[in-house]
Formats: sequence, structure tokens, C-alpha cells
Amino acid sequence: MNHAALQTAGPFAQEIAKLFWIFAGVATVVYVIVIAVLVVSLRRRRGDEAPPPDVIPRTTLRVIGGSLALTGIILVGWALADFFGNRAITDVPPEALRIRVTAHQWWWEVEYLDAITQDRVTTANHLTIPVGRPVVLELRSRDVIHSFWVPSLNGKKDLLPGYVTHLALIASHAGQYRGECAEFCGYQHAHMSIDLTAATPEEFERWRNAQRASAAEPTDDLQRRGRDVYLSSSCRACHTIQGTMSAARLGPDLTHLASRPRIAAGALANDPANLAAWILDPQSIKPGTKMPATQMSADDLSALTAYLGNLR
Ligand code: CUA
Repeated sequence: MNHAALQTAGPFAQEIAKLFWIFAGVATVVYVIVIAVLVVSLRRRRGDEAPPPDVIPRTTLRVIGGSLALTGIILVGWALADFFGNRAITDVPPEALRIRVTAHQWWWEVEYLDAITQDRVTTANHLTIPVGRPVVLELRSRDVIHSFWVPSLNGKKDLLPGYVTHLALIASHAGQYRGECAEFCGYQHAHMSIDLTAATPEEFERWRNAQRASAAEPTDDLQRRGRDVYLSSSCRACHTIQGTMSAARLGPDLTHLASRPRIAAGALANDPANLAAWILDPQSIKPGTKMPATQMSADDLSALTAYLGNLR
């Protein structure tokens, strides 16, 4: 999974990487020159026991003047590079796909905006975007300041309570990318990752159509029992499973939970054992999380994880 700012997978990240190399390159050259001049003058000084002259020699004045001018040119050059780089990463074509991302302590709510309300897709901690098509994220926060950062695709953008910010993404090639919350937002800030899949446009449409559908029906008795356990437990007080009586929005939408690679905002891989551990005692995995522990028998729990594992 690609997770590095200099391993770019799109034009915006390339702009930022380019800026990094310009700044790092120029700063390295300046550093080497300064150190070289320092070494040479220390060497000369050692051999020269005569007191320093009262009048500064003309060549020294020229070197000082030249260095000051060069410093000014470099600073102006950096400011211009920064200005144009910033313009390039905020320049978004109007036909972009729009996705609303809402940050919560400590997970990401993701809604694919659509003019037809029924066609909106809601998911959590996982974005799927089509390769080559610009995407604009509409960023909001429910509680404190968070920051959205998928380093291979673009820089960071803060999510502020009561205020909407925007961030554009373009993925140039298909792949799996990982992102993080990049602003300290409380105890579980480090467990607030987001997974991003860049898929071909056809795969993306297939994925979106699958996500629009209601939850999969149970296929056997164990899963049917699991659905009964779910609907009679406290789970439905916070979560939604489309097509059932469960429609609360305090926690992540679980309609297609099994299609997501990880659970608990990246804290665990999405498998039955981790799901069971998470349901029984989330506080031991992610202390401070809003999800309370749920008591249930081993049989009920395995039925529940069988049902949830079928929600593709
Ligand atoms: Cu959310 Cu740090």
C-alpha cells in the first residue's frame, strides 16, 4: 500500500514533490557553499598572524554584497515556486466527482454526493475513486480539527468544525493508497487512517452500483441468526444497515462493511476474529473510542460476525 509523499500517484502530489526537490536542492547547494567558504577562511586565518586590517578589502565587500543579492534572489524564487505550486494543486475542473468527507473522533464518514438522493453512497474509512478523473472532497468535522492526508495524491487539508474546506485529488494510476489524519485530534489520533482505492472508471462504476444496493440478505441460518442478534442488540442505536430497521448515524454505516479492507479506521484488518474482538471490547483496542463494549454469548458473536462478514 503506497504511503509516501515522494512516491507520487497523481499530478497534485507531483507538484508538491517538485517543490520539495527545488527547496531541498537549492538549500543543499547553499549549505555546501557556506561550509566551503567557512573552511577556506578558517584555514587562511590560521596561517595569518597579522592583525585584521582597519579597512575591509574591496573583494570582501563584493563577496558580502553578492551573497546578500543571491539570498534575495533565492528567497523570491522560492516564494514564486511556492505560489505557482499552490495554484497548481488548487486548480480543479468543474466536472469533478464530489465526495463529502466528515471527520469524527476517530473515523472518517464518506458520502458520494449525487443529485439523486437515493443514489448517494455512504461508507466509512475507505474511498474508491476513478483513475484519471478529478475528485473534489468537501471536508467537514463533527468535533475537533482533523486533517486529511493521502500523501501519494495531495498535501494535507484541515477539517474544521462549522466550516467547509475543499481538497482536490487526481489518481493517475490504479492502486491502493493509505492516508492518515495529520492533525492531533485526541487520544486515538494515531488510529485514524483512511484507505483509498484508485480503480479504472469501469471498476469504479461497478463498485458504486454495488454500494448503492441494500445490504446483502443472509444466505444461511447462522447469518440469519446473526442479523437477529444485530437487530436486537445495542448495535443499531449507532449504526446503519440499509434494508434493515437499523438506521442510526452516530457510527460508521455498515451496509457494505465486508467490502472494506480494515475496520476501526485502520486499527485492525477486517476479518471475523478482529470483528469479534472489536465488538466485545473496543476499549482495549482503541481506548477512548465512542463504541462501547457489547456483552454477548460466543454463539451469538460468531453468528453476528458471520452476518457482518457477508455484507459485501
Ligand atoms: Cu483526526 Cu487526528
